[in-house]
Amino acid sequence: MDLKKVIREIPDFPKPGISFKDITTLLQDGEAFKHSVDLIVEDLKDKNVDIIVGPEARGFLMGTPVAYAMGVGFVPVRKPGKLPFETESYDYGLEYGTDTLQIHTDAIKPGQRVAIVDDLLATGGTMIAAAKLIEKLGGEVVSMQFLIELEDLNGREKISKYDVNSLIKY
Ligand code: PRP
Repeated sequence: MDLKKVIREIPDFPKPGISFKDITTLLQDGEAFKHSVDLIVEDLKDKNVDIIVGPEARGFLMGTPVAYAMGVGFVPVRKPGKLPFETESYDYGLEYGTDTLQIHTDAIKPGQRVAIVDDLLATGGTMIAAAKLIEKLGGEVVSMQFLIELEDLNGREKISKYDVNSLIKY
């Protein structure tokens, strides 16, 4: 199945010069959505993953079905002020702006093997932030999984010390 065919490209969104990869068209296609989740689960199956982490918001959409299919838990990494319990924070640079991500301090137990799942790898800033948060809590990042990778932005270089898998490359 050619997953690229079900990704919609929106020119100049959210800023001029950015070609936004709209995954809503993939999500609304049951066969394509299931196939995407299945491919990620297949890649993770021998990596002894204890728990999935997904960054807000589109990481929730890809991360939770992967966690459900694997029968493991899911941990949200969120933008500031959204998580109600005690949090750990990390500042990062984004493709278009800067932001902070947070995780609950008790979300990952020391020694847990963690896979991060997100819809898209751009600069890699989000992944570094998520990995730092997980590692600060004593977790081990055993894989990073993406629906889409924007190769021109060299995010993969930034996360080269990790296991990385992406399903669609631009
Ligand atoms: C997007 C995307 C990734 C991140 C990738 O999220 O879903 O999480 O950017 O960019 P990076 O590799 O340069 O860090 P965004 O912050 O736009 O949040 P959203 O999912 O809530 O729209």
